[in-house]
Amino acid sequence: MRTLTGITPSGAVHIGNYFGAMRPAIEAQAAGDCFYFIADYHSMTSVTDPGERRANTRGIAVDWLACGLDPMASVFWRQSDVPEVCELTWLIGSLTPMGLLERAHSYKDKTAKGLTPNFGLFAYPVLMAADILLYDTNAVPVGQDQRQHLEMTRDIAIKFNQTYGATFVVPDAVIRGDTGNVPGLDGQKMSKSYGNTLEIFGDEKALRKKVMSIVMDSRTPAEPKPDADRNLCIQLMKLLAPPAVAADYEARLRAGGLGYGDLKKALFEHFWTFFAPARARRDELLADPGYVDRVLAEGAARARALASIVIQRARRACGLE
Ligand code: ADP
Ligand code: TRP
Repeated sequence: MRTLTGITPSGAVHIGNYFGAMRPAIEAQAAGDCFYFIADYHSMTSVTDPGERRANTRGIAVDWLACGLDPMASVFWRQSDVPEVCELTWLIGSLTPMGLLERAHSYKDKTAKGLTPNFGLFAYPVLMAADILLYDTNAVPVGQDQRQHLEMTRDIAIKFNQTYGATFVVPDAVIRGDTGNVPGLDGQKMSKSYGNTLEIFGDEKALRKKVMSIVMDSRTPAEPKPDADRNLCIQLMKLLAPPAVAADYEARLRAGGLGYGDLKKALFEHFWTFFAPARARRDELLADPGYVDRVLAEGAARARALASIVIQRARRACGLE
């Protein structure tokens, strides 16, 4: 049972990335056969500064390792170190209907916001399908926002298999109900592109300020709040604090008597404590830059060994060799 996922290096990782994709990926390591990568080709549509791409790519590598990705248990690499994925994008893209890509939320949302689409944005789901199919992947842990991309990947794999004979494994998305859609500080989905993120490794003072600035309603502290379970701070607390502690805050908010300021302070403290071990590990990793380079180089060699088998299978299936 092979697990694979990727994260685009388009900015600092946040707790939505962590709970939606990074932690499930880290937990899957216990079962073995894990493939995780930094999707730097995917960042081409949003980042156009080479230095920024390099820094983000390296940054995500360090952050993921700090959070518990274990390069002894997983293959961990940079997507562009295995360029076969671009060839596979062409093979499968040649069977992908325009209509399927036109229905992609990611494409529709960006064009609706006035962005002039380019080929990369339109073809993004095909590259993502290639990422997954190139490694005979069974399970893909992602957040809820990627569900449609996984459905497209399945459609593309099935179409290829029907056209050229059994070639690809048809993968399944692994999306957790409790952590697949982490709300951002403004209540919308947390996302780098909405500016509503709680970055895992940001500056303490700035993050505290962000949490203390979360907008709550105007009810007084004394008022009971029967809708306490829908409170944003409570929802985030359920991810970051021990369950009994989160339940206690929820009960106190519901009963009345707990002010929003105190709730936000507590939320920040739990967030800060939750990531304390990762922060310490990250400081160690930053002190040894050669280590991260070695991990990614070794991961690239292992990933490429598998990719070359699958791309050859795909080339043969469609008569390219
Ligand atoms: P962003 O939307 O911030 O740009 P990415 O697209 O790089 O994040 O997402 C990387 C991974 O993190 C994907 O698996 C995605 O589904 C997951 N993810 C992103 N935001 C959230 C969220 N708010 N809740 C749960 N998972 C998320
Ligand atoms: N598109 C994903 C995102 O923005 C990142 C990604 C690229 C990915 N390739 C993937 C995730 C393959 C899972 C599997 O979040």
